[in-house]
Amino acid sequence: MTKTKKFSIVIAGGGSTYTAGIVMMLLENADRFPLRALKLYDIDEARQAIIAKAIAIELKEKAPNIEFTWTTDPQTAFTDVDFCFAHIRSGGYKMREQDEKIPLKHHVVGQETCGPGGIAYGMRSIGDIIELIDFMERYSPDCWMLNYSNPASIVAEACRRLRPNAKILNICDMPVGTQRRMSQIVGLQPEDLEVRYFGMNHFGWWTSVKDKAGHEYLPQIRDYVAHHGYLTQVEVDTQHMDASWQATHKKAQDLLAVDPNYLPNTYLKYYLYPDYVVAHSDPEYTRANEVEDGREKRVFTAAQKIIDAGTSEVGAFPIDSHASFIVDLACAIAFNTHERMLLIVENNGAIANIDDDIMVEVPCIVGKDGAEPLTQGKIPLFQRGMILNQAMVEKLVVDAWIHHDYQELWQALTLSKTLPSAQVAKEVLDDLIVANREYWPELR
Ligand code: NAD
Ligand code: LMR
Repeated sequence: MTKTKKFSIVIAGGGSTYTAGIVMMLLENADRFPLRALKLYDIDEARQAIIAKAIAIELKEKAPNIEFTWTTDPQTAFTDVDFCFAHIRSGGYKMREQDEKIPLKHHVVGQETCGPGGIAYGMRSIGDIIELIDFMERYSPDCWMLNYSNPASIVAEACRRLRPNAKILNICDMPVGTQRRMSQIVGLQPEDLEVRYFGMNHFGWWTSVKDKAGHEYLPQIRDYVAHHGYLTQVEVDTQHMDASWQATHKKAQDLLAVDPNYLPNTYLKYYLYPDYVVAHSDPEYTRANEVEDGREKRVFTAAQKIIDAGTSEVGAFPIDSHASFIVDLACAIAFNTHERMLLIVENNGAIANIDDDIMVEVPCIVGKDGAEPLTQGKIPLFQRGMILNQAMVEKLVVDAWIHHDYQELWQALTLSKTLPSAQVAKEVLDDLIVANREYWPELR
């Protein structure tokens, strides 16, 4: 019998609220994805240390054979690794709060990845992700980066432009989370579903949801969503349960009404109902505050409790869809399983009637050489118009970052469906520039 290969992983963004969940998931999957080494890498030593010390205790008790370290030194982090799981937040929650609150001050959608907030976050993330890719290529050229860092769509477009040959797969857990809800609606397990989907990240539609025998469930799910959105009775996904997420799942019924043929991604609400979103946002308390008071507090309190007790017996970190998806993806690459998964890839004909060079989110077959997109055919006028508009917004953002160009960034905001006019776009942009002085390239 051949000995199973053991893997060495670095988690970039070691201090993330998701790191502990991913490590727990890795431990749970040690049979199919065994580890020899695990490293955490972050630029914030103090934040990472809390998560790392708790994980060290977990590993000592549950998997003492895994060599575990944490560091802020790129060479130490990226040397001798097979996979980098990346989930960094450039600028942290402090800047997420600005991304949300500055647009809201102008009565415009303030959101992590959509509209001006997403653009501002993109302008911060691009350089940091490119830097991670360069570390990986310098110290472990065969390594794959599985990247969750947002805003995934803008980050993916930047990678396509700036590091076209990098071994990076940009991913998102939102469709996975929604598919869990769909599986519950029809009484199946998430892994029973096989979907067809087209769009961009946080901007797409399901055109088919079948079981493995080929039975089509889309009409049944559509009837349910028309009444309840994606709200389900039982907790299916620990990650998207806060009050604001419940409202978002429910709002899917109004997204469906715009085109009842397809099942919408929940993030479309920011583009299709921006006025509703603004009217239902509290400019003094946004999602960043909800996460700081919720997930961040829960995770760091749990970690501190483990450190203080010196044992992991005092509590457990939750495992969510975010964690399970990334481990599934690593397995598909490591063992060439040709599993079918939704990933963000260069279009190249996967959606027949949009440009080849748009980064789309479609089902792909994943194996040791990465992702092979499955063609989704031609899409209708409405979705095509939406996608082309959003794709050009994101391309302008990446152009603006590369060229340090104010005009291109103003055009990006002006083109976004979330902004009402060039004038408002300029006012929002000028405020964002001031807030992001430390992070963005200086625009000319
Ligand atoms: P967080 O702020 O808790 O953690 C991010 C960590 O990254 C922090 O510890 C920070 O110090 C670190 N960091 C920032 N810049 C860095 C850099 N240049 N190099 C190394 N480390 C750096 O954030 P979080 O809420 O846990 O989210 C982490 C990321 O995951 C975010 O980008 C978020 O948007 C993303 N996310 C993606 C999905 C998805 O499905 N695509 C879902 C959830 C979260
Ligand atoms: C996050 O990290 O905050 C994302 O999962 C998105 C969200 O608003 O929960």
